[in-house]
Amino acid sequence: MSGVPADALVFYGASGDLAFKKIFPALQSMIRRGVLRVPVIGVAKSGWGLAELKARARASVEAHGDGVDADAFPRLLALLRYVDGDYADAATFAALKRELAGARLPVHYMAIPQGLFGLVGGQLVRAGLAGGARLVVEKPFGNDLTSARALNATLHEHFAEANVFRIDHYLGKETVENLVFFRFANTFLEPIWNRHYVESVQITMAEAFGVEGRGAFYDRAGAVRDVVQNHLLQVVSNIAMEPPPRSRDTETIREEKVKVLKGIPPLSPRHVVRGQFRGYRDEPGVAPRSDVETFVALQLQVNNWRWQGVPFLIRAGKCLPVTRTEVVVRLRRPPAIVEVPELRANHVRFRLSPNFVIALGAAIKEPEGSTGRRPGAQCVELEVTRGLAGGLGPYEELLGDAMAGDSFRFAREDWVEEAWRIVDPVIKAGTPVLEYEPGSWGPKEADALVPGGWHVAAE
Ligand code: BG6
Repeated sequence: MSGVPADALVFYGASGDLAFKKIFPALQSMIRRGVLRVPVIGVAKSGWGLAELKARARASVEAHGDGVDADAFPRLLALLRYVDGDYADAATFAALKRELAGARLPVHYMAIPQGLFGLVGGQLVRAGLAGGARLVVEKPFGNDLTSARALNATLHEHFAEANVFRIDHYLGKETVENLVFFRFANTFLEPIWNRHYVESVQITMAEAFGVEGRGAFYDRAGAVRDVVQNHLLQVVSNIAMEPPPRSRDTETIREEKVKVLKGIPPLSPRHVVRGQFRGYRDEPGVAPRSDVETFVALQLQVNNWRWQGVPFLIRAGKCLPVTRTEVVVRLRRPPAIVEVPELRANHVRFRLSPNFVIALGAAIKEPEGSTGRRPGAQCVELEVTRGLAGGLGPYEELLGDAMAGDSFRFAREDWVEEAWRIVDPVIKAGTPVLEYEPGSWGPKEADALVPGGWHVAAE
């Protein structure tokens, strides 16, 4: 049934945080664009009625969206329905069936913990609601390779892979998608995009804030599970993938992304530095002796024809000096015809968040007399673009895709399992967690992973 528009949207966890922060604002925007016209049924166990759900929707668009839209918001209210009940109780799904009123192609969005996916899936089957249904599931998708496989098997008992939509909100980001577009739409990049010209690829996801009240969740995850296994390996896939064959079938692109991961050996704990910011253990919900990492720096290899030998360096952390996600592709230094010690590698830089920048780093000669010594080189950046406006928010984009039955921007089963295979040794190794000061760039041991130093743009 892929490609056929859904005729209802059910979202579980309607009273929860994700619905409040992301889902209601996305729904209002979809209505404004005219792409959502079907009933929207919230399900939760909160003792609520429809009035409370509507009040929550209003508070949500005010706090996390662009305010109450005089035209779209009343239309959202008119589409909303609510079912209150326990997911373990068949009566909840009998009530849901009544609200669905014969909808044949509903989307079921699981904004609930992964431990409940199997339970809800089973209830849908028993209530006769699984035929034609699509499941949208949120990360974390498993906690390691074994649990991810088990979860996939549970879902596949009742739902075909084509009907399972795994959200990784990075796949809904314009800036992340643009990595692929920019690479394949510009001829000048392709000749240098390989091991002969690229010295290293660095990916930094820095966040200047801590765990922000999510201590209990974060303390079961840590940086590797929270952002490396999913978001940052998606970025690696986009940077490293081969151009897909020309085809109308979007699976060919997902195929190429999986091939990248297949070329990455499991991470060696020797190439990983884990850190924890001072004060993390005092956060609510965090174990007093927690050894969960709030910072990680690691090196991986992509062992294929294009990339073998090029280090891919990833670092991600909370409580770092800035909030910024960047990819820096460093090019090899040219042969030294002129002796300029400070001549650095040239680079291509992509800022993915919080704004959008593509820049080419190049060396130019310092003007005569600008310093007291012989003129050397100076690195300048040519900005290809900065801060393109527009685009949809990731949740709006992804929910719209799931409703339309388009799985292109969702993580496929084999991609998810490959990603766990890569990080599994590190999450099991229990390497030491080194303390770092909030506001610093993490433990200094992370610097030793990168011979030329980590590159961070000044602003
Ligand atoms: C989430 C993580 O998936 O992504 C958070 O759980 C992280 O810890 C967030 O802060 C970052 O997303 P974005 O879109 O702000 O870069």
